[in-house]
Amino acid sequence: MRCQSKKNRGRCYRIIFVVASFLLTMALSGCGSFWDVAPEDILSETEAEEDLIVVGFSQLGSESLWRSANSESIQGTLTRENGFFLEFNNARQKQENQIKAIRGFISQRVDYIIFSPVTEDGWETVLQEAKDADIPVILVDRKASVSDDSLYTAWVGSDMHKEGEKAAIWLEDYLIETGREDEQINIVVLQGTVGSSAQIERTAGFNAIASSHPEWHIRAQESADFTTAKGKEVMEQLLAKFPDIDVIISQNDDMTFGALQALEENGISTGVNGDVVLISFDAVYDALELVSEGIINVDIECNPEQGEYIMELIRKLENGEAVEKENCVEEKVFTQENVDQYLGMRTY
Ligand code: AHR
Repeated sequence: MRCQSKKNRGRCYRIIFVVASFLLTMALSGCGSFWDVAPEDILSETEAEEDLIVVGFSQLGSESLWRSANSESIQGTLTRENGFFLEFNNARQKQENQIKAIRGFISQRVDYIIFSPVTEDGWETVLQEAKDADIPVILVDRKASVSDDSLYTAWVGSDMHKEGEKAAIWLEDYLIETGREDEQINIVVLQGTVGSSAQIERTAGFNAIASSHPEWHIRAQESADFTTAKGKEVMEQLLAKFPDIDVIISQNDDMTFGALQALEENGISTGVNGDVVLISFDAVYDALELVSEGIINVDIECNPEQGEYIMELIRKLENGEAVEKENCVEEKVFTQENVDQYLGMRTY
């Protein structure tokens, strides 16, 4: 391997680092002389290191079942068996933690950085640093709003605007089917983390269609940060303020679980035969069971299984092939009519 190219330089540095650490450990440990170690042993360590593609992954947190499934998909795909060495960092919902992790990956000179931006803004500087170090960055799930899109190589994730539209289209059809299309409809929305792609795009997609329905009234859009605990808390506040809610839109399943607790405590039923229409996003197993039971009317899928897509992209980049800038994963819409055929194969 030649160390002149920027790409190989990172690997060379790591090899030097591994050898140096090894020699230092031997010198300090006093566990036998350096000369007791066969040179082939050092070589095999460095060779193993050299063959792996080193990826630094900054995951934004572990706020939801969806997020855990997303982390598992990536950790389960970028494995040693598949030729990767993955360094995983959980940023616990803090942008500063993500920036710190990314800077760490840059100074380690990893081969690729992948990360899911907690919110869209504030990434220009650190992405410029990655670009200057010639490390390709792949955005996962959420987007980063940057003026120069050459700051990242590609993005893999969901079309969240379309997800929002799907929710509105489902509601249009449902109101027609149930003969309620001329009724005044009061809607409240539990939003995800403010400033995240999921919150921005799902809201925009839904509102784009809602704006052509003067009879739909969006009474409140409150963030519950994608968590069950906040979902319950915010739903309680909304119930106290708005006694006549017709439709609840919850931008993820975890908030839906919390909202359901609050609704139950207030004696309000949801779903197919309930008082309030309940629309959710993600479609994790526990929520799909509630769709099957008729408690959630519709669940708009957000597919967390993105590991294979990322691996495919990296392999192409390794082969010098061009890749698409935007790579959307496939997603469905689940209602009581179709959900049972998918429940059995749901792994998250
Ligand atoms: O960005 C995807 C969203 O983030 C999922 O809908 C939600 O569950 C997660 O926390």
